[in-house]
Amino acid sequence: MTAAPNHRPLLEVRDLSIGFADSRGVFLAADRIHLDVQTNQTVGLLGESGCGKSVTLRSILGLVPYPGEVVSGSIRWKGQDLRTLRRREIEKIRGKEIAMIFQDPTSCLNPVFTIGSQITETLRIKLDLSARAAADRAVELLDHVGIPSPRERLQLYPHQLSGGMRQRVMIAIAISAQPDLLLADEPTTALDVTIQDQILSLLARLKEESGMSMILVSHDVGVVAQNCDVIAVMYAGKIVESGPARDVIHSPRHPYTRGLLAAIPKLEAISERRPLSSIPGQPPNLATLPDGCPFQARCPFVRPDCASIPVILDHALPGHGSACPMVN
Ligand SMILES: Nc1ncnc2c1ncn2[C@@H]1O[C@H](COP(=O)(O)OP(=O)(O)OP(=O)(O)O)[C@@H](O)[C@H]1O
Ligand SMILES: [Mg+2]
Repeated sequence: MTAAPNHRPLLEVRDLSIGFADSRGVFLAADRIHLDVQTNQTVGLLGESGCGKSVTLRSILGLVPYPGEVVSGSIRWKGQDLRTLRRREIEKIRGKEIAMIFQDPTSCLNPVFTIGSQITETLRIKLDLSARAAADRAVELLDHVGIPSPRERLQLYPHQLSGGMRQRVMIAIAISAQPDLLLADEPTTALDVTIQDQILSLLARLKEESGMSMILVSHDVGVVAQNCDVIAVMYAGKIVESGPARDVIHSPRHPYTRGLLAAIPKLEAISERRPLSSIPGQPPNLATLPDGCPFQARCPFVRPDCASIPVILDHALPGHGSACPMVN
């Protein structure tokens, strides 16, 4: 593993904005995002559906879905701006130094090929292995991610595996080139709770063993609270709070983060079958965002000034920024 020069963060995202133009109009799905990832650190990207988590993550590898595009900002990887690299140079990093687990695992495994042929094909391309060496490495990898009888499983087609096993295969493919950074987009959302825990433990183990870093995207506060060192909370394309996970979870500053935390199901609410509290209302339409704070329409602390304040993380607490000057 190569360290970032001058002890800079491994990944340094600055002022990153991603624009879309569709039937709703022109809008920014990510608006001036700042994000640092240090070596062996897990950064959680937390927020409700549609707030821009996936497009932000995908932009790191130049994979923003059409018709979206990065409109400004920089994405520095080991000091080098990925946005300035040629396609061939990006290809050397993608899947090797930076790997990704996509949000919909079924879309990444081809139903008409066996697991084995898909893994060995990837290994041959990424690591330039012979067919024989790739097959052996595939068995090792499946074993490493906890798939029993790996040699037999290689003969199976994706639909013959459970959701949890398919996700383990995706993880095996992602870590096959021993990446320095793993981008994991909702890696457990489609799975039931017990399997979710198993997959998250697997990711934590792999991270500890290899020293890799990770960005973990989730809309689940519990998942990021338990698995991340740092949390960035996104709302309507903007980071509204970020800081050490412990501080964000125990002393949330932004009203949106507080709302997300209040929405966590409490044990007594589940056993008494009380309705779970959640933030009333819906995230705004990105194409018609109001001036000022995007959360104002749902915020219990809203004041007239919220219609004109800039959405910028403050430095009121070292390392723990909030974009709400009204509540502290
Ligand atoms: N292909 C696309 N065409 C048009 N708009 C898109 C496209 N992909 C994403 N968007 C828009 O960009 C915004 C952010 O989308 P993104 O997929 O990043 O959200 P997300 O936070 O990952 O949500 P989820 O939790 O549902 O995965 C959304 O408003 C979405 O409608
Ligand atoms: Mg997403």
